[in-house]
Amino acid sequence: MTTMTQTSTFVYNLGPVSNIPIGEGRAFLVGDLVVAVFHTRGGEVFATQSTCTHKGGPLADGLIGAGKLICPLHSYKFELATGQPIGHTCAALKTYPVSLSETGDILLTTESTVREEES
Ligand code: FES
Repeated sequence: MTTMTQTSTFVYNLGPVSNIPIGEGRAFLVGDLVVAVFHTRGGEVFATQSTCTHKGGPLADGLIGAGKLICPLHSYKFELATGQPIGHTCAALKTYPVSLSETGDILLTTESTVREEES
């Protein structure tokens, strides 16, 4: 049996960044994923998995500032850009490449791996 894997990249337009108030996050359904997207006071955008690696808190409702994301359930902190935990041992958050188009739309990139088996 032969197994082949193929990775595809998808770019999703999540609409105008102005739909996310500055300093807040919002959850978006992207394919079969839910992703939390944040709009910083500096005008940047970041994207992480939607649930906290501690006990599943809704990260889009968290606080952001100074490059950090604070989970709304137990206030654990993560680096917004990398998802790395700060001061605790929970797993890092998955992060997604995200940028703004020339017209201010949020462009989020995901990868999907398809595994095919041939016998
Ligand atoms: S669920 Fe996020 S800190 Fe506990």
